[in-house]
Amino acid sequence: MTLRVIPGGRDAGPASGLLVHGAAEIVTMAGGLRRGASQADPAVNGSADAGSPDGDPVVAAWEGRIVGVGPRAEVEAQLEADGLPLARFARLDARGGTVTPGLIDPHTHLLFGGSRAGELILRQQGAGYLDILEAGGGILSTVAATRAASDEDLAAHGRRWLDEMLDHGVTTVEAKSGYGLDLPTELRQLEIAHELGVEGPIDVVPTWLGAHAVPPEFRSRPDGTEAYVRHVIEEQLPGVAAQGRARFADVFCEQGVFSAEQSRRVLEAARPLGLEPRLHADELAPSGGAELAAELGAASADHLASPSEAGIQALAAAATGDHPVVATLLPTTTWFLMHDHHAPARTLIERGIPVALGSDFNPGTSPTASLPLVMTVACLSLRMSPSEVLAAVTINAAHALRLGDEVGSIEPGKLADLVVWRVPDHREIPYWPAANLVRTVIKRGVVVLDRP
Ligand code: NIG
Ligand code: FE
Repeated sequence: MTLRVIPGGRDAGPASGLLVHGAAEIVTMAGGLRRGASQADPAVNGSADAGSPDGDPVVAAWEGRIVGVGPRAEVEAQLEADGLPLARFARLDARGGTVTPGLIDPHTHLLFGGSRAGELILRQQGAGYLDILEAGGGILSTVAATRAASDEDLAAHGRRWLDEMLDHGVTTVEAKSGYGLDLPTELRQLEIAHELGVEGPIDVVPTWLGAHAVPPEFRSRPDGTEAYVRHVIEEQLPGVAAQGRARFADVFCEQGVFSAEQSRRVLEAARPLGLEPRLHADELAPSGGAELAAELGAASADHLASPSEAGIQALAAAATGDHPVVATLLPTTTWFLMHDHHAPARTLIERGIPVALGSDFNPGTSPTASLPLVMTVACLSLRMSPSEVLAAVTINAAHALRLGDEVGSIEPGKLADLVVWRVPDHREIPYWPAANLVRTVIKRGVVVLDRP
């Protein structure tokens, strides 16, 4: 199979337009954040009319943004009326495939050094994730390898995995720091994440995760965790804010790592400096993370494999407001850790809490960059429907990054980030595990990947 990657992102914007036609269905995800019953509404456009050339659903992009979607005759007439001559639109035939918004991965640990493949065997022998961390492995071994890696190595690694993500239909990615745990390395991770986004074509949203673990130089001290929390707030945060690359602050709020009270202090210090809160919440045990995310109005509460009933209640109460906390579930992590306890996705959806999905791409607990695989695991382990998982990696993931006005759906005004899939129905996307069904990826109106 030939893979042709056409370089270029935001600087290579098209002079004119692109018209995608010939799709069996265009899944627009129009209509905003999904919660409750609407999580299952993909807002499919055109399938009812397909078969007649006039009813053929199309999507039109002009200078990187969507300018029309709907039945061909209607969209073409509207383009002409808007002074956008059809002759200036390149045509892309979706050849009976499905068109969706570009996928959005709202939780990754993109940049790291080293490999932790040996941990799989330790875990098979019964070692727990936090036991390995306590023994100096886990996150700490990645911290040592990341501190030792050059900027060039980290950037090359980032490019390699962003390519993998693009290959699987991803057009926007969040990338956390958190493998430096000292100011210079945290800044390097954030800077490289930012630069990779500028390089394109994938947009990268950097998140500062200084409070990911307590680094070795603080662990030897009796007050190590508390001293590190003070260091994070007093030393790292001002430097990160001055650098201006991070959009969010995140904390690993978990029993045995950082308490809800320590997490609150970090996130409350970060917010006035322009870093919006998001959290690793209740991954392994109920730790007050969901409650804290709701109280702070965080953009998202992530993992949630073990939230308390009070935490679910708090997220449900927050879900009725204008800026609900998005529950970002990471099912390949529980799968890869061989845990039999999963995030209560059905309960969260029934309680009206918007659900997103992320890869949690990282070297220890989820070494996959494939959101389609995450979608499959979410269907099987979390009992989410194929339509629900697609909303979770598009419009709801956009809201989890506070980008709901820019990306995540195919609606006029939004970025023309699209994927053409080699299946005629979006419900087939998660149905074929590990098959790559992506045919074409379009970022800001430009074809950036195409399998002829
Ligand atoms: O989200 N749980 C904390 N952080 C990551 C794992 C990072 C690592 O193990 O390197 C997570 O799973
Ligand atoms: Fe994570």
